[in-house]
Amino acid sequence: MSFIVSLSSRNISCFQHAFVPQSAAFLTMFQAAAKTLSVATTTAATLTRGTSFSLRRYCKKTPAKLRVSQAVAGADLGANVKVQGWVRSVRPQKANLFLHVNDGSSLQSLQVVASSELNDPLLTLGSAVEVTGTLRKSPNQKQAVELEADQIHVVGDCNPVDFPFKIKERHSLEYIRQFPHLRCRTNAFSSLLRIRSEATTAVHSYFKENGFVQIHTPVITSNDCEGAGELFQVETSGPDNEEGEKFFSVPAFLTVSGQLHLEVMSGAFSRVYTFGPTFRAENSQSRRHLAEFYMVEAEVSFTQSLEDLTKDTVEAMLKKRFPVITYSEAIDILNHSSQKFTFPTDWGCDLQTEHEKYLVKHCGNVPVFVTDYPYDLKPFYARDNQDHPKHTAAAVDLLVPGVGELCGGSLREERLDLLRARLEEAGLGDTYSWYLDLRRFGSVPHGGFGLGFERYLQCILGVDNIKDVIAFPRSSHSCLL
Ligand code: 4AD
Repeated sequence: MSFIVSLSSRNISCFQHAFVPQSAAFLTMFQAAAKTLSVATTTAATLTRGTSFSLRRYCKKTPAKLRVSQAVAGADLGANVKVQGWVRSVRPQKANLFLHVNDGSSLQSLQVVASSELNDPLLTLGSAVEVTGTLRKSPNQKQAVELEADQIHVVGDCNPVDFPFKIKERHSLEYIRQFPHLRCRTNAFSSLLRIRSEATTAVHSYFKENGFVQIHTPVITSNDCEGAGELFQVETSGPDNEEGEKFFSVPAFLTVSGQLHLEVMSGAFSRVYTFGPTFRAENSQSRRHLAEFYMVEAEVSFTQSLEDLTKDTVEAMLKKRFPVITYSEAIDILNHSSQKFTFPTDWGCDLQTEHEKYLVKHCGNVPVFVTDYPYDLKPFYARDNQDHPKHTAAAVDLLVPGVGELCGGSLREERLDLLRARLEEAGLGDTYSWYLDLRRFGSVPHGGFGLGFERYLQCILGVDNIKDVIAFPRSSHSCLL
């Protein structure tokens, strides 16, 4: 709403123009907003009544506004257009000035050609410009289209000495990481964020097409899921209330996983997913850990085996088939290796990064599922395989080259007596009485998994450091902006 407030009346008519097809609904929305914001209703009425007339007049005078992606694709050749963006390069020549302008809508910038009379010392790398002119076929092979400018307006200048990025210099991801407020202006990082946005859409499309219901699981929670990681506690910044009570009256945390809330929902919707921020107070500076990351989590009811989960969901989502080995086989492989490991490889030990790396390499440098981990290594909800003497749980991790663990999942213990016994043994019976209810009322075999979205991006893009695939990385000792 503050966006509407800050618009001038001229811009309001533009803004309305964009909504003309849905004018009735928009009108109601606009009038409601105007009322709420104490903008005189009469002004709103005048504006809305006169819209079509003023728009027609306005459109005649004003060149069509094009995004750079539309312009480089050859839309409106020969038309008088306006393009807004940031300067990516400036090349003044004797008679002509050449600029590249990018507005983030595509990797490709639009070449602007102008008479050198339009040159302005304020036209530098990073300055914001509005260029009006004619779109035409470019005589040069390098680009199909260029904008012959008749007007260049510098909307916001950019001091080239202070600006941390320099024309013609290739800046490394490490270098641009120091400028989280500016790095989206570079080709590399803006491309990465565009891919991230596309991948986000693809995740939602996959689940929608496969009949999953999206659940917004809470960010603040009073359970710690599985003790999956160190927790961030949530408290008010001010003093507690007069009685000295905490805001939530119980300890509250930022979620480490939406799994348990998803399990609640899988008891009604059969197939559910969530895709949101997840928080772990891990004191790690590694290139694959963040304190805030995004996790794709799914939960499927009436799932009988780990294979249902790995084949029907994880592989279907990633559109690939992967080899499967059991944890016991993994331990055998490690113990027959000539490589000396720092951490022990006895049956029952957790797999460390060095082990994961070796296993991936051993399987041909492809992603590999490791299943049936020792029961004692897995959280209370993992389904007991009841396979003594080597006691395992129906849990699975997907290990991928370069990144290590990408996905973790399991069948969930749906049998009330087994789950209750395990929770009581851990002294958690009361805390999780609501979870036991799920097994009391219409319990079904079910399972699910969580995929670290940043690790997925690292994997598909070959990006070494996880901090380079998220807009604003948070890790221990680092919370810039
Ligand atoms: O293996 P994890 O801990 O699994 C769970 O939290 C389950 N409750 C998920 C479920 O079954 N619904 O985490 C899942 C994935 C990991 O495989 C990893 O890719 C990612 O989340 N992950 C992290 N990514 C970035 N930074 C961290 N600190 C991460 N911790 C886990």
